[in-house]
Amino acid sequence: MIYPIVKFGDPVLEKPAEKVTVFDDELKKLIDDMFESMYAAHGVGLAAPQIGISRHIAVVDVTFKEDPKAKLVLINPEIISKEGKHTQSEGCLSIPDFRENVTRAQKVTLRAQDVNGKVFEKTAEDLLARAFQHETDHLNGKLYMSHLSALKRDLMKRKIRKLIKAGEWE
Ligand code: NI
Repeated sequence: MIYPIVKFGDPVLEKPAEKVTVFDDELKKLIDDMFESMYAAHGVGLAAPQIGISRHIAVVDVTFKEDPKAKLVLINPEIISKEGKHTQSEGCLSIPDFRENVTRAQKVTLRAQDVNGKVFEKTAEDLLARAFQHETDHLNGKLYMSHLSALKRDLMKRKIRKLIKAGEWE
């Protein structure tokens, strides 16, 4: 099932999601739906709050279907170490048609659980490290805007408010 993507302005995007404690078939079905919804929206990462479900689940595939091994499920993820800095243009499915340069750690180690509840750690650099940080932020109710200067963030919010008023933010 393909879920519609929730856009900026919906409070579900700005509140911390609930931790996952039950690893059952319903969770597996939701994860399949999340991959399907992410690909349908042409994204390389999707967090559950972005489909209106406030649970600590994210899916990532920075190769966009090229490499099946790149399909990652992150349940209850945490960034446990960070190294270096890297600035790159970043977007978000919940803030369509906007991109901004965001400075993040260049290399991170993430600890998360897989679909069966097994804990794993994974170290990543560059684009995957960025995806780990972006998606983990989502689960903590944080959008990439929060990494921008106040000036840039306000400008972006003002532009979005105009789009909402014009009925162009559905
Ligand atoms: Ni996002």
